[in-house]
Parts: sequence; C-alpha cells; structure tokens
Amino acid sequence: MKALLLAGGLGTRMRPLTESMPKPMAPVGNRPWLEQLVLHLKSQGIREFVMAVKYFPDRIQKHFGDGSRFGVRIRYAVEPILLGTAGAIKNAEPLLGDRFLVLNADIIQNAPIEPLLRFHEAHGGAATIGLVAVDDPTSYGVVELDASGRILRFVEKPAKHEAPSNLVNAGIYILEKEVLRHIPSGREVSIERETFPLLIASGAGVYGKAIEGYWMDMGTRDRYRKVHWDLLDRTFRLPLQGKEWKKGVWVGEHTVVSSDVSLVPPVLIGDRVRIGEGSVIGPYAVIGDGCEIGRGVRVTETIMWNDCRVSDDAYLKGCIFGAGLQIGPRHFLYDAVVSRGAEVRPE
Ligand code: GTP
Repeated sequence: MKALLLAGGLGTRMRPLTESMPKPMAPVGNRPWLEQLVLHLKSQGIREFVMAVKYFPDRIQKHFGDGSRFGVRIRYAVEPILLGTAGAIKNAEPLLGDRFLVLNADIIQNAPIEPLLRFHEAHGGAATIGLVAVDDPTSYGVVELDASGRILRFVEKPAKHEAPSNLVNAGIYILEKEVLRHIPSGREVSIERETFPLLIASGAGVYGKAIEGYWMDMGTRDRYRKVHWDLLDRTFRLPLQGKEWKKGVWVGEHTVVSSDVSLVPPVLIGDRVRIGEGSVIGPYAVIGDGCEIGRGVRVTETIMWNDCRVSDDAYLKGCIFGAGLQIGPRHFLYDAVVSRGAEVRPE
C-alpha cells in the first residue's frame, strides 16, 4: 500500500518559522518531521510514498530525492495552485493505487498502521478515518459513530455538552480509489469539510477507528514546543539521536561540551555542537546540529534548529530559533520565535 503525504500547506500558524519552508520540514528531535514520518511508516512496512507538495516544494524534493537514501521510493505530485487537502489527493490520482493511506504530514504521531488497515478491510468502507480522543473537543470537528464504527456525522466545534463524542479526525485515512470520484478537479477542496460529509451523505461507508500511540497536531508554535517537551519527557517515544550521557541528557556525535558546563535534564543536543565554559543548558532545551554556544550562556525551554550561533552571556528562555540564527552577546530573549538565518545584534 502506498502512502500519500499531504505536505503542501502554507503553515501560516507557525510563522515565522515557516516563512521559507514547508511546516512538515520543521525539525522534531533535530530531524525534519517529514523524515521521521517516512522512517516511522517504513518501520510499518510502507516502502512507496507520494508527496503532495506546493509550498517550497524544492525544500522537500532536494531533501528526499527519489527516497533511495532512506530505503524507500518517493514520487511527487506538485500542485499548480493550492488545492486543499482533498484537491491534493485528486491531483495525485495518477500515482495512487486502488487503496492507499493518506496522512497530514504536519501531524506528529507514531500510530501503528496495521490495526487501522485490518479494521478497514473488515468493514469494507470507502474510507476509514483514524480518530483520536481529545480532552476538549470544542475546537475540533467531532464524529458521531454508530456501534459498528460507521460515522454518522461530523459536528464542527460543538459546545462541550453537545459533543457526541470526544473523538476527532486524526489526519490519517485509508481510502479506496472510488473516493476520488467524489472530488472535483482543478479547484480547492477540503477533505474534512467537503469530501467526507459528501461521502457520508451519499451512503458510501465512512468508518472511524481510534488510533494508538502519541498524537499532536503541530500546527501552532505552542504545540510545536509541546511536542518537544513530550519528546524530552519520553511521553512521546520517538527514538532520540545521540547517547544518553546521564538520565535525560542526550548528546550527539563530535559534540564538545566544556568541563564546567551544566546540562540540566531533560536536554537533547545534536551532533558537532560546541558549548563554552560556564553555560547552563536546560531544563527543556533542544540544540540542533552544528550549533555554537558561547560562554556563560543560559538556555531553558528553548528549541534551536541547526547551525545557530549564540554569543557569550546570552539568556534565552521559551524561544524557538530557525536554522542559522545568530544572537549577539548579552542578549536576553524570552519567548522569541525567530525565523532562519536572522541576526539578533545590538545596534
Ligand atoms: P495553516 O496555514 O497554519 O492552517 O497550515 P496548513 O494549511 O499548512 O496546514 P493544515 O493543518 O491546514 O493542513 C493539514 C495538512 O495538509 C498539512 O500537512 C498541510 O501541509 C497539508 N495541506 C493543507 N492544504 C494543502 C494543499 O492545498 N495542498 C497540499 N498538497 N497539502 C495541503
């Protein structure tokens, strides 16, 4: 079975981090999430991928090529205009088989695919939607299911006492080719708002099955942070790169940490990082590959992408830094989210 990864959206809620790159390429645990997703699906036996791209497609195409570097086969469906989640599937039609998996590539998850597939085969519907239970369903499209798991309707953003369940669309689907007949070509179509309700109204079987494992829609900067804290706390058990120097402190290869640096768990530090004397890193810090951190720097609750440079005596708390960012000496930054390649210096 092929997997179609929807990776063409603009990622507006994660700006400025997505100013010049697709959201699914944002690193999670120091590797692009899309790469982590491909490797997770590969571990589930999926070897053939189609990536539906539109926004900075070459960032994805250059990273993955034909997929052979990752031991998989990847083809691309590039949209002429933004076609929405269903329009992107329709656009990829020539590359898809009779039955295929579709994933929103910005959903952070490690769900096993086999139970979803077995459920889909047993129920024989046109579509099976992976569902996830949320604490507060009021900001989602909630599903109402019958006892067999058939979806009767979606209720958009219900009041708490009116929610028919706490199960929402997890952005993972198994679809039969016949679904494509219900998607018009050449215009923007949303699978959540248009195609699934249409399929249900037409009597085609649309089923829902709760997925297992970790799940988070990384869509916003706050949720992107939360994914990382869950990763460091190991409630999200994505394998971490590097060696665990002591409990909760993971350090990559060729990284040089001066002797009086304090690494306060949980912390993840990438490859080829240098950290100068007297710095305190953590708790809750993710430092990307190739970063250089000066002396006397304090970093907490911060995610730094690759190749950032932080000068001496800077104090960073609650920040997210895009790749290649440079911070001048003695800067105090709280809750700053800065895009890649920027320079923060005194005038
Ligand atoms: P926001 O602008 O912040 O809403 O983000 P988004 O549109 O990138 O993401 P959204 O959560 O709305 O979409 C879910 C997934 O579908 C993401 O992985 C998007 O990349 C992808 N997606 C959304 N719209 C399109 C589209 O028109 N084409 C393609 N190929 N993918 C899309």
